[in-house]
Amino acid sequence: MEPRVKRESGVISEPCVNRLVVVGIGLIGGSLAAALKQAGACREVIGVARRPQTCADAVALGVVDRAVLSIAEVAPELAAGDVIFVAVPTLTVTAILQQIQACVAPEVTITDGASVKGSVIDAVRTAYGCLPAQFVAGHPIAGSERSGVEASNPDLYKAHRVILTPTPETGASHLQRVRAMWQAVGAEVLTMSVAEHDEVLAATSHLPHVIAYSLVDTLANDSENENIFRYAAGGFRDFTRIASSDPVMWHDIMRANKHSVLAALDLFSDNLSRLRSAIAGEDSEHMLRVFTRAKSARDHFSKMLTKQAYSQPMQDQQITYTVQPGGSVVGVLRVPGDKSISHRSIMLGSIAEGVTEVEGFLEGEDALATLQAFRDMGVVIEGPDHGRVRIHGVGLHGLQKPPGPLYVGNSGTSMRLLAGLLAGQKFDAELTGDESLSKRPMNRVANPLREMGANIETAEGGLPPVKVRGGAELHGIDYVMPMASAQVKSCVLLAGLYAEGTTRVTEPATTRDHTERMLNGFGYKVDRVGAAASLTSGGKLTATKIEVPADISSATFFMVAAAIAPGSDVTLNHVGINPTREGVINILRLMGADISLQNPREVGGEPVADIRVRYAPLQGIRIPEDQVPLAIDEFPALFVAAACASGKTILTGAEELRVKESDRIQAMADGLVTLGVQAKPTPDGIEIVGGPIGGGEVESHGDHRIAMSFTIAGLRATDTVVVKNCANVGTSFPTFVKLAQAAGIKLTVN
Ligand code: S3P
Repeated sequence: MEPRVKRESGVISEPCVNRLVVVGIGLIGGSLAAALKQAGACREVIGVARRPQTCADAVALGVVDRAVLSIAEVAPELAAGDVIFVAVPTLTVTAILQQIQACVAPEVTITDGASVKGSVIDAVRTAYGCLPAQFVAGHPIAGSERSGVEASNPDLYKAHRVILTPTPETGASHLQRVRAMWQAVGAEVLTMSVAEHDEVLAATSHLPHVIAYSLVDTLANDSENENIFRYAAGGFRDFTRIASSDPVMWHDIMRANKHSVLAALDLFSDNLSRLRSAIAGEDSEHMLRVFTRAKSARDHFSKMLTKQAYSQPMQDQQITYTVQPGGSVVGVLRVPGDKSISHRSIMLGSIAEGVTEVEGFLEGEDALATLQAFRDMGVVIEGPDHGRVRIHGVGLHGLQKPPGPLYVGNSGTSMRLLAGLLAGQKFDAELTGDESLSKRPMNRVANPLREMGANIETAEGGLPPVKVRGGAELHGIDYVMPMASAQVKSCVLLAGLYAEGTTRVTEPATTRDHTERMLNGFGYKVDRVGAAASLTSGGKLTATKIEVPADISSATFFMVAAAIAPGSDVTLNHVGINPTREGVINILRLMGADISLQNPREVGGEPVADIRVRYAPLQGIRIPEDQVPLAIDEFPALFVAAACASGKTILTGAEELRVKESDRIQAMADGLVTLGVQAKPTPDGIEIVGGPIGGGEVESHGDHRIAMSFTIAGLRATDTVVVKNCANVGTSFPTFVKLAQAAGIKLTVN
């Protein structure tokens, strides 16, 4: 029985590799050798190098246990469970594989680390006359401008990706061994096809190396610029670091991946010459478009690397809120910009003519998803910078086909409103979202759009993704909405901008009217007659200035907090109090809350005020059904108010709550019951009997409003409240934690 090996983590495990033979003990091979030794994940590491000095150095540095000059010297010792890692320059791989073929048994696993996979697969075929099961092509996406055995670094692969490109011939056990080997040194292992790998790497790695080498070479050869390096500062240094990489290795890569590199290089050259013309012709619009798009892509990439981008499902981040019981909220607060208005400012600004300037834009994940979608459709958008955004509108017909699916994260508003806008475009587009959004109904928008002549597909059951075919001839309809939904109304009106004739939407109850107000603000007439809003195509939107008021839906958490916690007195500044959104104020007042609206004014077509709330005891009520659409997003917080009121609160007519970011009736009922509150869900509402709130652990189901509601419940709890899965608070209220702590809620985040 062979000895077990203790890993760094303290877990006793079998080594995943018996012997590792590294052919080519440079940066790549030496680092794997050193890392496997450090992790105790193999029994012996043998190096193979052409030069005796390299062998001696590798042993002296402790990178390998022993080293030999040719694979033939160790081949007789090798058996199943052993791995040969070929880590030589790409064009040397053929010769090495021929040596291996001549002396190594078919049970031994062979893999490589070359940056081009097509040429390696060809080399294997040349050496073996076929693709043997024992060969697993691979490429660690890690490196450094340093080279040679001295550069070996046992941490090189930690948290880096390794791409394996198995073929149908690759043996499952060999593939598994190579996968386990890379995982043992801390890498994340992915698989893709050989062709895909070579195309992706040509663009993301090989092209940047060509450019860096060429730039430094250009400057170095320019005799007039002989002093240039003396003055070269950060930009030059950051941009050209990789021009110090191993020339032979990169020469080989360019030859081995010639076709894909040339395709990427041609694309780049075209782009560069367009930029050259723009600079020559002082075409600021073009320059700004390129620079802004590049900046946003680079910023997005940086966020992805730190797992903060909205293209990462936010649920991947496990964020838990812990609230110590008691306290009160005091102070003057400004919550971030209104989510609904922020979305619409980007959408309408993009299809307007001229530059729209936005202030107070909500820099939350949902509105940023809309912003990114329009950038993907070619719109130049500067910012956001402290809530300021400048949108270079492209006009009603200026949007361009996005390069891939438009990913809108958690945001139902983005998906539904965009569906309407996309229905009128000439190009095809696809809308995708995160796990929560992928469960939300989209037929409510697809059906009326189909009636208008749009060509739309959803997944089974009317769920996302939503695929919109371009070029449909839309015609206006008279649509009577089956549910009270501002998203559906807005979607149909936006499609109406592109539809022949007049489009009219009648709502069963008043819903938020930001789309209508903002269209009017952009100079596009929307008529309102009773419950019907209508517009006629053929007009245009003219850029304007938009000041986004603070979001009453975010202010709600502090309004309820002050209403339930004795000793509280908060003022929420500059909050939008559009009559279609004021349900929370009406309902809290009916329950006995002490709310005053101060300094009422109108900003950019939207009424705003400062809202002061002081603690006063609440009573349970039957919530009037006409208030439901006016407070649709505020119910999770209102349920907490009901739990703190005396007597029973009854909500009916609110079945829409079941299809929000979570089933908000069930999610709130479950959490309240966990905290010891009597809460009984009904098909279209809930009954809550006010009483003491205990402590406990509640689940937000990744729903931002559920997470924030249970956080404020902590103010009246008798024990600690732990709220799970709070990452999505960032979708609507990125500053919630900071404001809650400043106001007096005893909240910690882990
Ligand atoms: C919104 C409308 C509401 C609301 C959502 C934002 C909007 O949805 O819940 O948070 O911006 O139009 P419904 O229209 O589906 O009720």
